[in-house]
Amino acid sequence: MIFEQLAAGGCQSYLVGCEDTCVAVLIDPEISLIDRYIALAARDGLRIHYLIDTHTHADHFSATLQLAKKLKVPVVMYRTSPAPFVDLRLDDGESLVVGKLRLQILYTPGHTGDSMCIQVQDRVFTGDTLLIGATGRTDLPSGDPDALYDSLFNRLLKLDPSLLVYPAHDYKGRSHSTIKDELASNPRLQISDRSEFVTMMRNLDLSMPNHVTEALRTNMSGGKTVAQMLAEAAEAVPFMSLTELMSRNKSDANELFILDVRERDAYEQGHIPNAKSLPRGQLELRVNQELVDPTQRILVYCEFGRISTLATATLREMGFQRAVALDGGMKAWREAGYPITSGSEK
Ligand SMILES: [Fe+2]
Repeated sequence: MIFEQLAAGGCQSYLVGCEDTCVAVLIDPEISLIDRYIALAARDGLRIHYLIDTHTHADHFSATLQLAKKLKVPVVMYRTSPAPFVDLRLDDGESLVVGKLRLQILYTPGHTGDSMCIQVQDRVFTGDTLLIGATGRTDLPSGDPDALYDSLFNRLLKLDPSLLVYPAHDYKGRSHSTIKDELASNPRLQISDRSEFVTMMRNLDLSMPNHVTEALRTNMSGGKTVAQMLAEAAEAVPFMSLTELMSRNKSDANELFILDVRERDAYEQGHIPNAKSLPRGQLELRVNQELVDPTQRILVYCEFGRISTLATATLREMGFQRAVALDGGMKAWREAGYPITSGSEK
């Protein structure tokens, strides 16, 4: 078995491959590691056939949908997963064939209603059902401490104690554990009485994970994250530096149409000399009156450089092939001590 473990923050993901057939799966891929997964699989001579999420993640962004589009392979989840883009829905007791490997599915609800564990050879990928020295929380949508009790004490912990445990999270840099070690030392597993376990889980009083609404929105719907929207826009546009704009604005003000896409009051308080105001919210509707020459070179800026990137991508999509975004924004321009004009347009 070819095995790679990748961490992104506290999130653990796994590339598991069959060395005889060069077929592989990715388990719980995270969005920031997409290029690394592809590069690692290539380095190991593997072709990824399945993208598996052990459950609906609430605390990070799954890469399964994006990778599925890139690699043209199915997204795999438990059958009740709410995500509409799941191609292959598995049930308890089924196996996924990956070359000569057999990935056995165990339905283990509790952390979420769609949590499953995956056993292959000497190891089990426990998702957030069982962590090293902890368990997944049960206070997020579809969590159920009673179900987690059964999944742990009546399923997972009854497996071969020598099985290696590879969880979906570890925040202390540990790579794995064993069922035996968890049985012996995991504090939550020392409470084997059902009602005590449920009470303990209900009283954990954990803070909400970062980005919980955005993670659930995107992982459950296949929608894009804000960072994805910005990254895609940034890939589609060129940028101009502050110094380049400064020198061009001085030497030939007519060559460049400078467009300020902030709100009107921000523009009036202070803008780049020669800039025209066209707030981002009105861009599409006023573009025909304000930007009459589609061959004009247009430099777009905003306060921080993010909205202007989106606006530039929109302009390019609309046919303004020479639209360029400022690398930075009005804030950086101001801090650099470059000239500023205030007041409304003349
Ligand atoms: Fe989770």
